[in-house]
Amino acid sequence: MKIELNENKVIFNNGRSKQEIHPFWLRERVDGEEYLDKGTQQRLFDPSAMNSEVFIKKATISNGFLEINFNDGVSSTINIDKIALEFSNKDTVIKSIEKIKWDSSLKNIKNYNYDESFIESREMHDLLISFYKYGFVIIKNVPTENNYIINFANSIGSVRRTNFGEYFNVKSKSNPNDLAYTTLHLSPHTDNPYRNPVPCIQILHCIENEVKGGLSTLVDGYTVTENLKKEDPEAYRVLSEIKVRFKFTDKNVVLEDWSELIHLDENKEFKQVRFSPRLDYVPILEKNKLDLYYKARKKLSDLYNSEKNRIEFKLEPKDLMMMDNHRVLHGRTKFNPKEGKRFLQGCYIDFDSTEGKLRHLKRKFAI
Ligand SMILES: [Fe+2]
Repeated sequence: MKIELNENKVIFNNGRSKQEIHPFWLRERVDGEEYLDKGTQQRLFDPSAMNSEVFIKKATISNGFLEINFNDGVSSTINIDKIALEFSNKDTVIKSIEKIKWDSSLKNIKNYNYDESFIESREMHDLLISFYKYGFVIIKNVPTENNYIINFANSIGSVRRTNFGEYFNVKSKSNPNDLAYTTLHLSPHTDNPYRNPVPCIQILHCIENEVKGGLSTLVDGYTVTENLKKEDPEAYRVLSEIKVRFKFTDKNVVLEDWSELIHLDENKEFKQVRFSPRLDYVPILEKNKLDLYYKARKKLSDLYNSEKNRIEFKLEPKDLMMMDNHRVLHGRTKFNPKEGKRFLQGCYIDFDSTEGKLRHLKRKFAI
């Protein structure tokens, strides 16, 4: 990649083709104290209020910098590397982390160990990379006093509050407003599919766990749906096209949102799964379409519930698990409360928290 000049035109050459850079694009990026606040890196002028008929009067390149004089009297020096970086036109931090598919054979995934300096450490950077690869991560030794989960979440980014509160206590109780607060087996599901937007990351922190059952279960929605795409493209198509209604009601709120069970991005690639068969309602469609939908959903459900796709483990006190609620399904096995206490705390954060922290740590450690 190279920046070249042709008279007063600035040309971007990627080795295969050449493209003139719009003068106004460069004018928006002028550097220097008058135009850019040093601390915030925010503009001190408003390009949206400017006339875009800007042209370059003079341009030179020296020592990796482009020096430009514009016709409106403004001149600036712009770092060429910075321009080239923008031409890659994609997120170079998050999207470049390739997801690793996993199933029940997943072994030896690295756990992390918490201490006071952990959040700002190189280990935290590695943890976040692992989180984006696998869709979950476990941290040992996280203090359990005084709802520490909130401290933890807020030191990565910000807690995403919901109608369950800033955090929630997962204990069995009488008259629960969600089956999570019982001793029942919970089949694999994603949380809050009825919310817009769906919380991105769930954090679960084990405070006490004295029972033999109550194992945590995880399934990789990415692996399952990618396999379904290969093995049964028709089922995959149906589930990625039909939008269903997810609904939650209690005495204070009625939440509703519509989505496909397999939600794809603009390139028809995996973006998000939602699965919570206790609260999904497909609309009335032609009978033959619903036939296809019900068969496809059964197939997906069988895959999500298959032992082959599930990992199962016991969370010990002080273990904290972070999972991608847009990718990984979670559940638990049933337990007997007479055996002892089982007490977990949970909360949500969004992707801006982990993405922001990861970009910050990359900058800090020049990775
Ligand atoms: Fe859940």
